[in-house]
Amino acid sequence: AAAAPAGSGALTFKPIPPNTLDTVIVPNGYDHSVLLAWGDEVVPGAPAWRADRQSPAAQARQFGFNNDWLVTLPLDRRGRRALLVVNHEYTNENLMFPGFTTLDALTVEQIKIAMAAHGLSVVEVERVGDSGEWRPVGKGARRLNRRITASTKMRFTGPAAGSPLLRTAADPRGLTVRGSLNNCAGGLTPWGTILSGEENFNQYFVGGDGVPAQTKPALARYGIDTVNRYPSGSRKWERADERFDLTRNPNEANRFGWILELDPYNPDSTPRKHTALGRFKHEGAEIILAKDGRVVAYMGDDERFDYLYKFVSDKKMRRGNGPAQRAHNMTLLESGTLYVAQFEATSAAEIDGSGTLPTDGAFNGAGRWIPLARGNQSLVAGMTIDEVLVHTRLAADKVGATKMDRPEDVAPNPRTGKVYAALTNNTRRGAAGQPAADEVNPRANNKHGHILEITENSSDNAAETFTWTIPIVCGDPTDPSTFFAGYDKTKVSPISCPDNLDFDAHGNLWISTDGNALGSNDGLFAVPVEGPERGHVKQFLTVPTGAEQASAHIAPDNRTAFVSVQHPGELDGASIDNPASTWPDGDFARPAVITVWRLDGRQIGA
Ligand code: FEO
Ligand code: CA
Ligand code: CA
Ligand code: CA
Repeated sequence: AAAAPAGSGALTFKPIPPNTLDTVIVPNGYDHSVLLAWGDEVVPGAPAWRADRQSPAAQARQFGFNNDWLVTLPLDRRGRRALLVVNHEYTNENLMFPGFTTLDALTVEQIKIAMAAHGLSVVEVERVGDSGEWRPVGKGARRLNRRITASTKMRFTGPAAGSPLLRTAADPRGLTVRGSLNNCAGGLTPWGTILSGEENFNQYFVGGDGVPAQTKPALARYGIDTVNRYPSGSRKWERADERFDLTRNPNEANRFGWILELDPYNPDSTPRKHTALGRFKHEGAEIILAKDGRVVAYMGDDERFDYLYKFVSDKKMRRGNGPAQRAHNMTLLESGTLYVAQFEATSAAEIDGSGTLPTDGAFNGAGRWIPLARGNQSLVAGMTIDEVLVHTRLAADKVGATKMDRPEDVAPNPRTGKVYAALTNNTRRGAAGQPAADEVNPRANNKHGHILEITENSSDNAAETFTWTIPIVCGDPTDPSTFFAGYDKTKVSPISCPDNLDFDAHGNLWISTDGNALGSNDGLFAVPVEGPERGHVKQFLTVPTGAEQASAHIAPDNRTAFVSVQHPGELDGASIDNPASTWPDGDFARPAVITVWRLDGRQIGA
């Protein structure tokens, strides 16, 4: 990794106010531009995109829809060229196809376009002059550009590869799978590959009463309807590809919900889904090294009352970037220990669900990582290793893991090793028949979410015990149920529904929001997590009407924020014919990745 840039890391930018403008707003002294938007050329020779001239073959070479997590990997030593890797989480067909009426009315051709708009993009990019602005490289120099779609061939690794639970008619050995779906967040590995999480994969499958009876409990636990064949909002992808019909291919859903690893430096590489990291609605996976050199991945399962996980590899990372070291390191996620988090029980008397701090002045406590599987061995009574890894939610249910308020991104701070989890919201917390507020999810009807900080025992990320605290309970700072690490609440920006997390070179936390419940647009916020400014949340950017601030990547030199603007114009009743947003082109909305930089060329946020 590059050395951290000089400077104190103090965040001195003037925060922007909350707003509802249909554009991107950045602080004074900053500028932004669109780097890539839906439909732009990725694979050389892709046809120019036009709303009325879409095709599956064209889309499979063009930038996909709903860009989410993103990262850059260096292509030179001077920081002038890089590989940009971007997830494409899902599609909004109403914002894609002129004349859209209902999902039912989509043609098979349109469903295939949507399939090709999923996955990932790998794009060679270059710095503009000496600024913090970036653009795609010119034609003829895009050797590494690549699209991954819902059809790209991938293979399974780890203990559950080849499991009967993964076998289908098309893949009787259970070793290969076509495509990746609902790629939400991800992570960069120290050996120069990327990880990508398959999140809400259930929506692509039809189930219903016709699925085999023995598959129903697990399918239902993963959100697939086993009573109604077509619950509302069904995508009906089985009309285009029979493998999405679980009455015919009941195991196909087991082949999604994984963490995949992609080597973007090799455009011919086969992406791998790592079964050792378990199967759930994977938000993403972020990596740090344990004290002894083993690799630790932190992961969230984004569902109300689901869990936080971590994986610790069996083998240690080898330093260096030679072919032998890299080949070794690419096997690290194939075997290890999978854990789920349990937070110590707290007395109901101390937590009343109002969000008021307990008498000891902090939401805090201890906790432990419960091992579910170690290598090829199940550690859960009554479940085989295949069952633990394929039906990981059921395994975690059995061991008493702590039900959380929708774990989104879980990210270790590379400067301190402390781990931060975005618990985005959970309006059912404390509702009738649902789990009550507890100290680690302290607010009933948790509309705005909170940030959790975990400190591993002995500051070793491979530890099996930890302590934790909640530095930020989100919302309007005038709301008494909010908390900003004790910082003066008259000086912080309102923040709601934290989702994606990133750290800049100085260890400041950058928070992207999804679904701001305070009524203004989503945005990007920065906050120090150490020192006297801890808790001083400041808003850096807002995204256009209806958009989610899906992800931000602060470049290693701290001079650029790569920002993913997802689903602009996603409002009820809106469509490409009746747009709620006209960003960025002025006619209708397209999801896009932008870069943000400082006009004086200095570090972002400073
Ligand atoms: Fe796709 Fe959990 O955000
Ligand atoms: Ca306490
Ligand atoms: Ca997310
Ligand atoms: Ca989200």
